[in-house]
Amino acid sequence: MIEQIQDLQQEHQKYLADLAGWHRSHSCGQLTLANDGEEVCLMGWVQYRRDHGGLIFVDLRDRDGLTQVVFSPDMAPAAHENAHILRSEYVLAVRGKVRPRPEGMVNANMVTGAIEVVALEWKLLNTSKTPPFPIEDRCDAGENLRLSWRYLDLRRPRMQGNLMLRHKVSQTIRRYLDDAGFIEIETPILTKSTPEGARDFLVPSRLNNGEFYALPQSPQLFKQMLMVSGFDRYFQVVRCFRDEDLRADRQPEFTQVDMEMSFVDEEQVMQMAEGLMASVFKAVKGQELALPFPRMTWAEAMSRYGVDKPDTRFGLELKDLTHIVRGSGFKLFAQARLVKGLKVPGGEKLTRKEIDAFTEFVKIYGAQGLAWIKVKADEWQSPIAKFLSDEERKGIADALELEVGDIAFFQAGEPDMVNAALGNLRVHLAEHLGLIPEDSFNFLWVTDFPLYEYDAEANRHVARHHPFTAPAPGHLERMVSEPDTVLARAYDMVLNGNEVGGGSIRIHSESVQRRMFEALGFSQAEAEEQFGFLLQALAQGAPPHGGLAFGLDRLVMLLSGSSSIRDVIAFPKTQKATCLLTQAPSPVAASQLRELGLRLREKAAEAAQKDAAAQDTGKQENA
Ligand code: AMO
Repeated sequence: MIEQIQDLQQEHQKYLADLAGWHRSHSCGQLTLANDGEEVCLMGWVQYRRDHGGLIFVDLRDRDGLTQVVFSPDMAPAAHENAHILRSEYVLAVRGKVRPRPEGMVNANMVTGAIEVVALEWKLLNTSKTPPFPIEDRCDAGENLRLSWRYLDLRRPRMQGNLMLRHKVSQTIRRYLDDAGFIEIETPILTKSTPEGARDFLVPSRLNNGEFYALPQSPQLFKQMLMVSGFDRYFQVVRCFRDEDLRADRQPEFTQVDMEMSFVDEEQVMQMAEGLMASVFKAVKGQELALPFPRMTWAEAMSRYGVDKPDTRFGLELKDLTHIVRGSGFKLFAQARLVKGLKVPGGEKLTRKEIDAFTEFVKIYGAQGLAWIKVKADEWQSPIAKFLSDEERKGIADALELEVGDIAFFQAGEPDMVNAALGNLRVHLAEHLGLIPEDSFNFLWVTDFPLYEYDAEANRHVARHHPFTAPAPGHLERMVSEPDTVLARAYDMVLNGNEVGGGSIRIHSESVQRRMFEALGFSQAEAEEQFGFLLQALAQGAPPHGGLAFGLDRLVMLLSGSSSIRDVIAFPKTQKATCLLTQAPSPVAASQLRELGLRLREKAAEAAQKDAAAQDTGKQENA
């Protein structure tokens, strides 16, 4: 069968023609009854060919849409004669005449659904092998297959729509920022590493053997230095690189809309960012966003939602029960640093199997198990109820406002685990129970983050945002002595539970920046060695400044209703950071490594062999 198809393709090659002066008059998504009677020239890909009582129909596709082309033995016998050779994905140019479709064949769902083009003449511009999956939205090909044939995957209308939406979003952003006086300035890709919390991608230097560039995790320090230069409002739509574990909303290279402003405080940066979002929503959704966005402190977000990027489209808030069960006979609760509960109204109907699945789910976040209570009319059905006193039961019932028919889930232990387990369970439950309203967009600012977080592995404090974020007014004195109490002048923009942007007011004083490095455990010499250029710049008349960066991929993912950022990136990487289309990353020749002064430990012998073989071949060729 496959051989037959290949033979046919070979056979069809003899019909190939070049454009020879033919020019497209319209796209395949453009013609309507207003064009009735016009002679047009269309070019595109064959979606389908149907043979119907002597007539041959072809749906011709380009990025704009589909147009039905008819090859009729009566009206244009020459054009009809060989049209039976056309196959899906062949590339075709057609000259023809627009006419209304016969009654009963009108498709009101398509722009071009009221007309068809009667082919008078056509050229086959290229044949195509049968694609590995159909070029249509209804396609059940696995993602790996789609990524291996990405250029075909990108022909599908949904993917075309996603990339066109991305274009519209970035053009709107550019227009808005230009109107607001921002200047687009490019910053280096081969640079020195800036700590943004992830691992760097390194690039070995040929001219300086043994030394490395880092690809930028963000242009953070360059944009700050541009403020020192006096550029005031800077922006850039810029690729950033982070070697971190990948998830549906993370890629090793991703795009930020990066901004910085001088002589501003939080209010001005946040206002500008809200205006930018409003212009994007107006342009792509036709929606007016209500401004200003609601705000919530980090402490409140953690307390009510367990995460620092709460999805506020639904309730299911967490309640702190620690004080209620402090002296309980139930040791697990009594001894825990934090005990929290989460009520699902009417959730009593959840089955044992569903509860078991939720228990497995919270284990991802380090929980040992998941306690629960179903509120029946005359009793609590629960594996833990028997351990609780009447008073504790009443306290819990009051705190969670329990009613008959509800289920409540509990988690006890270290605060980070309890919050992560219940905070993520909350979202999982809402998805499982269909509690999330479709097509609603809930923005939220999260503010007043702690400046530091403790890194147990490194046994020191690290910056929660990055080490250039200013401490809250009045917290300066405690930066070194009581780091856990210091808040940051940082803000994150959250959309439907996703962090779509983040930024801060920066440290613009050299001495404060030095104190920051000290608090992070840098010696004077280390600070100088890694960040001497920044410290020097801050001492050269740095203005107060602040900014923010949006994750463009995440934003477009949410706007397009996609569940993965891979669906809004033309050529993304897999979860294992590989490109299935080009097979990157890939081994390189030993000679390339030698030029860079590198030798691979495990693969050294293998590479040397390859190199020797290549040299042999070279000698033979030269001989
Ligand atoms: P931050 O690290 O918060 O801030 O990044 C800004 C935004 O970029 C997006 N983002 C990502 N998107 C996809 N894949 C990733 N791996 C990834 N990592 C981050 C998120 C995030 O909100 N220099 C600071 C900004 C500033 O302070 O002005 C910065 O990079 O949407």
